[in-house]
Amino acid sequence: MATECKLHKTKFIHISTDYVFDGIASNPYVETDFTNPLGIYGLTKCEGEEALMLSGCDGYVLRTSWLYSVYGHNFLKTIIRLATERDSLNIISDQIGTPTLADDLGRTILELIRQLTDKKKVPTGIYHFSNEGVASWYDFAHAIVELAGIKCKVNPILTKDYPTASARPAYSLLNKGKVKAALGIEIPHWRDSLKQAVTKLV
Ligand SMILES: NC(=O)c1ccc[n+]([C@@H]2O[C@H](COP(=O)([O-])OP(=O)(O)OC[C@H]3O[C@@H](n4cnc5c(N)ncnc54)[C@H](OP(=O)(O)O)[C@@H]3O)[C@@H](O)[C@H]2O)c1
Repeated sequence: MATECKLHKTKFIHISTDYVFDGIASNPYVETDFTNPLGIYGLTKCEGEEALMLSGCDGYVLRTSWLYSVYGHNFLKTIIRLATERDSLNIISDQIGTPTLADDLGRTILELIRQLTDKKKVPTGIYHFSNEGVASWYDFAHAIVELAGIKCKVNPILTKDYPTASARPAYSLLNKGKVKAALGIEIPHWRDSLKQAVTKLV
């Protein structure tokens, strides 16, 4: 696709992930930070980014994190369903990142397209985008249940007590300074966006 975009002088916008990082950092990741994915998903996303960058097309990589929306299958909808079915939920509290409402990412992509269409120069390359703020999966689930007004207790648990097939970064906060400066945008806090999404669902 990137090769075709180069051939036809078409811009390519590619969505990537915070899971390209290993989560060992203690400050929000910037675009130039070293990638070291923990699993095959992050590895293939890294390879996609690299292929795009090496193709020589006008490529924009938007790395985002913890996507959810009122559509499709995602953490928000799973938690609402489970919280209605059960009295309590155990959710991991030692993985830190930022939930991102897909609408906010979509709006940013549209703004990028608008500016490129208006012939504004937006440098090609990698950009980080998530909602503002910091959360663990426990914080996220707790906020969902609270905002939805469901009577269900949410208990924090540790990653080591919830074995999964694939490792996930313990820390995947993204620094959004570059995208905010390039597009002149402000980004909503994850709690404000979550409130909007939950309101549409319940
Ligand atoms: N989910 C996250 O937390 C997260 C975090 C960071 C980055 N990302 C990135 O965000 C992007 C979307 O992820 P997601 O979680 O939203 O995935 P998803 O729920 O699986 O949605 C993928 C979408 O792509 C469509 N699709 C898949 N293969 C296609 C093809 N060959 N041609 C046309 N459409 C195709 C699917 O269509 P159907 O509905 O018809 O199957 C679906 O609508 C991915 O690039 C992912 O790496 C996701």
